[in-house]
Amino acid sequence: MEGRDPVVVVLISGSGSNLQALIDAYQREEIPGKISAVISNKPHAKGLERAKKAEIDTHVIEHQKFAQREIFDAELIKTIEKHQPDLVVLAGFMRILTDDFVRRFEGRMLNIHPSLLPKYPGLHTHKRALEAKDKEHGVSVHFVTAELDSGPNIIQAIVPVLNQDTEETLATRVLEKEHIIYPIAVKWFIDGRLEMKDGQAYLDGEQLPESGLKLEIEQR
Ligand code: GAR
Repeated sequence: MEGRDPVVVVLISGSGSNLQALIDAYQREEIPGKISAVISNKPHAKGLERAKKAEIDTHVIEHQKFAQREIFDAELIKTIEKHQPDLVVLAGFMRILTDDFVRRFEGRMLNIHPSLLPKYPGLHTHKRALEAKDKEHGVSVHFVTAELDSGPNIIQAIVPVLNQDTEETLATRVLEKEHIIYPIAVKWFIDGRLEMKDGQAYLDGEQLPESGLKLEIEQR
């Protein structure tokens, strides 16, 4: 990251509210450098509008137009590499990635997932937490490795599950925390404080616990 402003590329599939939280953090100059591109696999993703409003380059690569996952991912790699990013940020990018793709950006690719990983990888996390009668639910930011929604955790925020919670109310409260922890993790990486070594996450040279750091600790 030496000699030029650090560059981030963000991948989305939908609303892009996490992208917006990042855009806001950049606009407040909390994170140095810039988001140089937003890439969506869905042409109508609302996040594309958010990017355009913030004058960020956008690319649409529709996965349906590719016969094979490998060809789609190769196109994705080509587009990402045009921007020479220091960090690739998956922000609600709902695609399973090939090993080649993951290997290409391993150690410099983050994901946010709405559960306390390793609990509930995959879809319908809020529903599953409610069905299991969990007292606590939440969100994790982690380095991306080959397995879906896995890889070492960096930071988690816990959200208490309330008796009257529905999937929607729980998802809303989790999303509020997502918007806090993702910019924190991106800033740590861009500031050179966060790295992945031998499949483990380190902050300031210290190995992070399996759950990652807890938001409450960071906010003290
Ligand atoms: C977020 O809740 C994010 O955690 C989730 O998709 C949503 C995207 O919202 N990601 C995953 O489930 C990844 N497995 P957004 O488009 O408003 O940021």
